[in-house]
Amino acid sequence: MVIAAWETYPGAPAPGDALCDLADIPDPGTHSVNIGDFSVLLARRGGQVWAYVNACPHQYLPLDYRAADVLSADRAKLICSNHDAVFDVETGTGLGGFGQGCALDPVPVAIGASGRISIAAA
Ligand code: FES
Repeated sequence: MVIAAWETYPGAPAPGDALCDLADIPDPGTHSVNIGDFSVLLARRGGQVWAYVNACPHQYLPLDYRAADVLSADRAKLICSNHDAVFDVETGTGLGGFGQGCALDPVPVAIGASGRISIAAA
């Protein structure tokens, strides 16, 4: 059995755990949800949502620590609010600054018919 990176964080939620509603995420924009000590950053463009462990690999601070919305103006990148590390919104791959050579840890999510977003089965 392969354990994904997000599952190794302390307090990682279980598949099926609810995160928020699609309407809670600005469109386009980002929104973070804390489940105990585990934080998930969700990014939205229309009906598409991507989710990552909300821990920037530079200093493991939440990407949205200093600003609620960390989606770039062109909606293609996440820019850490701490020291401007840049990541691809669709893959989490580091693209610039302190993001170079590293990546965000994706969290699988599913959007239910009611718009409820939950942790997806791996
Ligand atoms: S903590 Fe994200 S760039 Fe420094």
